[in-house]
Amino acid sequence: MSAAAAVPIRARAVQQPFDVERIRGDFPILHTRVHGHPLVYLDNAATSQKPRSVIDAIVRYYEGENANIHRGVHYLSQVATEEFEKARETVRGFVNAAQSSEIIFTRGTTEAINLVAQTYGRAHLGAGDEVLITAMEHHSNIVPWQMLCEGKGAKLRVAPINDAGELLLEEFDKLLGRRTKVVAVAHVSNALGTINPLKRMVALAHARGIPVVVDGAQAVPHLGVDVQDLDADFYAFSGHKMYGPTGIGVLYGKHALLDAMPPYQGGGDMISSVTFEKTTYNKLPHKFEAGTPDMAGVAGLKAAIDYMNGIGIAKIAGHEHDLLEYATEELGALPGVRLIGTAREKASVLSFVLDEVHPHDIGTILDQQGIAVRTGHHCAQPVMERFHIPATVRASFAVYNTKAEIDALVRGIRKVREVFA
Ligand code: ALA
Repeated sequence: MSAAAAVPIRARAVQQPFDVERIRGDFPILHTRVHGHPLVYLDNAATSQKPRSVIDAIVRYYEGENANIHRGVHYLSQVATEEFEKARETVRGFVNAAQSSEIIFTRGTTEAINLVAQTYGRAHLGAGDEVLITAMEHHSNIVPWQMLCEGKGAKLRVAPINDAGELLLEEFDKLLGRRTKVVAVAHVSNALGTINPLKRMVALAHARGIPVVVDGAQAVPHLGVDVQDLDADFYAFSGHKMYGPTGIGVLYGKHALLDAMPPYQGGGDMISSVTFEKTTYNKLPHKFEAGTPDMAGVAGLKAAIDYMNGIGIAKIAGHEHDLLEYATEELGALPGVRLIGTAREKASVLSFVLDEVHPHDIGTILDQQGIAVRTGHHCAQPVMERFHIPATVRASFAVYNTKAEIDALVRGIRKVREVFA
């Protein structure tokens, strides 16, 4: 893991001066006014906003580089191919993969997890085998495994969490058995903010020879991720939660595993040769990238990584940690507020409920004040069930948020209480 990620997030809070106003200036949408109020955007776990450099990279791609990649001898096709493969190298460096052929571009985390379930999973699971997940997974790290298990007569096992939203590591360990063929876990919970002790979980699974698939969608924007240090076998994440465009994401996989896996989708670019009798497949990473990919999205993702690297992941993590601590104190002190997810190690997510007020009503009243939060089950219905609640309000932070915005959220919640008093 990189230096930033190796140090517990609490110890990372002390950073050099951090000019949040300069950063805010990079994001055109943050100047929006909503119902007469300045926008307070606290729905970053759903999707982050995009800096000008990302928007410009997409425009630049279409204005100056657009052509299909890996196919043409002409100038533009070669430029587009070079830029695409350069971006792959940028992603490789960002998560410290050993080789750029281990970086597969997908539509996002969801597609990446489905890819692993439908290729590695289908090849390795049989009747009576098991997939182990945790009780804090997003639907995208539950349903693909359920579908696989249904098709194979296999069983989905779930490692429990405590009332703070922390994984019970001993229970997780006990559930790793002879029949466990895959472990699939979130690095950071989208509904609770919990940072899982991933390195230890991977080590426990590997001690029994079980590969680990990681949903890193909520981790990559906030922590330094080093896939080699984690020793993750597969690691999935999305561009749009880390200041990049929608519709582009990444599956990292260890070369030997990817190489041995059957392809996911069939089509152009993933083949080496095709006859009506037999098709042979392309080498990595192209074997898993059938069809024309999202070249503009890849250009935007590269710009997003350059943007994050320009600030420094340690500074991003430190600023967000300060915001989370401040928000936890301020909201925790409000009468009637109950925080959902109070793990010792957390990243950028503050979920809560308020007395008898339904989260959707809270979200609507906050919206009237220009404050954007997510309300609902956050695509994690089993988490809601675990805490015996239908939904939460979730404020989630990014590098451009400020303490003044958290103050606005606190005023907004006071207003909700007045309305429902
Ligand atoms: N997975 C996204 C969220 O947590 C959509 O809001």
